[in-house]
Amino acid sequence: MTLAQLRQFKNDGRAIAMLTAYEAGFARTAAAAGADAFLVGDSLGMVVQGERDTLGVSVDDIAYHVGLVRRGAGDVAVIADLPFLSDATVERALDAAGVLMGKGADMVKLEGGAEKAEIVRALTGNGVPVCGHVGLLPQRVRKLGGYRVQGRDDLAARRILEDAEALVEAGIDLLVVECVPRALGRQLTAAVTVPVIGIGAGAGTDGQVLVMHDMLGLTETPPRFVRDFLLEGGSIRGAFAAYVEAVRERRFPTDEESF
Ligand code: KIV
Repeated sequence: MTLAQLRQFKNDGRAIAMLTAYEAGFARTAAAAGADAFLVGDSLGMVVQGERDTLGVSVDDIAYHVGLVRRGAGDVAVIADLPFLSDATVERALDAAGVLMGKGADMVKLEGGAEKAEIVRALTGNGVPVCGHVGLLPQRVRKLGGYRVQGRDDLAARRILEDAEALVEAGIDLLVVECVPRALGRQLTAAVTVPVIGIGAGAGTDGQVLVMHDMLGLTETPPRFVRDFLLEGGSIRGAFAAYVEAVRERRFPTDEESF
């Protein structure tokens, strides 16, 4: 799965089914079920390490899990999160990206908007493909005062759109949008040329991503936009296949699973 293919999917209107992954066995099973891309997210701080947020995750933590996922993913694209503050300066971001690409990542993801344009330019200028992340930014949870839906009013929605456009202008190849009203998810997807992958952003994006532990029913109080695909699929392999099919056929998320 190449970046060009993901872009082609957007142009062809074929929905992209992405999942987070943290190790080889689950990545291999999800790849066999047809997942288009894996994100080694810093959500691993919560779902693997048991922390209350993602702030303690290090570049070495992500690198370790990228290595595991790479071995299971085959030729499915692997995207690695730049964890909290590892992208605070150009130098730190380049160093972190070097470590993560060295472990087998195809792309790095960073959270933030226009203020990250310089970092995105430095990364892409050095041959590192970048995925942006707008909307709810879990790395800023302390400043946001909790995990809340973003972009509910006109001004906030406009800011998110402007941030997305600034990131595209700076050279991102992919964009994640998290926890926004579905109308904004749709609007943002129409506004930018790169594929937009939603999580809690409605069915109008170019693709979906879910945290693997959430969609396997392992999270005690999952957010409203999560569906337990293990219930639907009957086995772990079946859950991945049900997810891929539901995303491709745009049966997930429903309006009830959106904001
Ligand atoms: O860390 C992560 O898993 C993420 C997803 C929630 C998009 O950033």
